[in-house]
Amino acid sequence: MESPFKPDVLKGKVALLTGGGSGIGFEISTQFGKHGAFIAIMGRRKQVLDSAVSALRSLGIPAIGFEGDVRRQEDANRVVESTFRHYGRIDILVNAAAGNFLVSAEDLSSNGFRTVMDIDSVGTFTMCHEALRYLKKGGPGRSSSSGGIILNISATLHYAASWYQIHVSAAKAAVDATTRNLALEWGTDYDIRVNGIAPGPIDDTPGMTKLAPGDIKSNVKDYMPLYKLGEKWDIAMAAIYLASDAGKYVNGTTLVVDGGLWLSKPRHLPKDAVKQLSRAVEKRSRDAPVGVPKSKL
Ligand code: COA
Repeated sequence: MESPFKPDVLKGKVALLTGGGSGIGFEISTQFGKHGAFIAIMGRRKQVLDSAVSALRSLGIPAIGFEGDVRRQEDANRVVESTFRHYGRIDILVNAAAGNFLVSAEDLSSNGFRTVMDIDSVGTFTMCHEALRYLKKGGPGRSSSSGGIILNISATLHYAASWYQIHVSAAKAAVDATTRNLALEWGTDYDIRVNGIAPGPIDDTPGMTKLAPGDIKSNVKDYMPLYKLGEKWDIAMAAIYLASDAGKYVNGTTLVVDGGLWLSKPRHLPKDAVKQLSRAVEKRSRDAPVGVPKSKL
C-alpha cells in the first residue's frame, strides 16, 4: 500500500532499530528508509541481519546491521557507538526487540519471566540510556535546540489480563511506564520525545505465529471491531507519524494500533433484541405503581 506521507518526511534522519531485521521492526526499517532515513538495525541473528540489510539496500536505502543482544549492556553501548561512528548522528531510536512465548503462569519459571523482562523492559531502558548522549539536544551531531525521538514497541496485553502472557504483560507494562517517565524527564531536560506504539494482532509476524497458532487466528477475528488483522504497514505508518514532525507535540503517549480490539467484548445481546427488550423494561418500570420493589416487576 502506498504511504500517505511525503517521501522526504524523514529525510536525513538516522534511525537505529533493535529487532529491526524482522517482523514489525523490519517493516518500520523499510518504511523509515523509504521516507528518507538512514537505517541501522540491531539483532542477535547474523543471517537475519544480513538479509534484512541487503533487502533494504536493494531498495536504495542506506542500511547497516550490527549484531547484538539488548540484554547485554556492552552490546547496547557498542551498537549505539557504531551507529554514531557510521552515520555521524542518531535521531531516532526504535525499541522493537522483544521476546515472547505462550505459557501458563503455573508452568513459567522465574527465569522464563525474567528473560522476557530482560529483553523487553530492561533492554528498552538500556538502549535508551546508551543512546541518550546522542539524542539529547546539543549532543554529538545535534543542534543545541532539538533533541531526538524514541519509540518503544509495546502491546495491549496488560490493559486487562491476557491468557498465558503474564511475563509479557508485566514486561510491556514496564515498557509503557518507561515511555512515560522518559517523556517527562528527557522531554523536559533534553527535548527528546518518547512515545510508544501498542500493536494489536498483526498478520504475518513472529508474534502472530507464536501467540495465535493455527485456528485461533480465524477465531480471533470474530471479536474484532474492524473484523480484520492489522498489517505491519499500519504500525510503520504510526511510527512515521510519531517520529516525524507530524507528531511534534506528542510526547509520552503509547498509540494503540489495534483496530479497537482491546476494547472489544463479546456481544451479549443481538442489536435488534436490545431495542425491544430495553423499551419493554422501561415501559414496565414506568407503569409500575410507586413503591413496588423492582424485583416484583
Ligand atoms: N515455555 C516456557 N518457558 C520457556 C519457553 C516456553 N515456550 N521458552 C523459553 N522458556 C524459558 C526457559 O525454560 C528458560 O527458563 P529456565 O532456565 O527456568 O528453564 C528461560 O525461558 C530462558 O530460555 P532460553 O531459551 O534460554 O532463552 P533465550 O534467550 O535463548 O530465548 C526467548 C529468549 C525464550 C524469549 C526466545 O523465545 C526468543 O529469543 N525470542 C525472540 C523472538 C521473539 O520471541 N519474537 C516474538 C515477538 S512477539
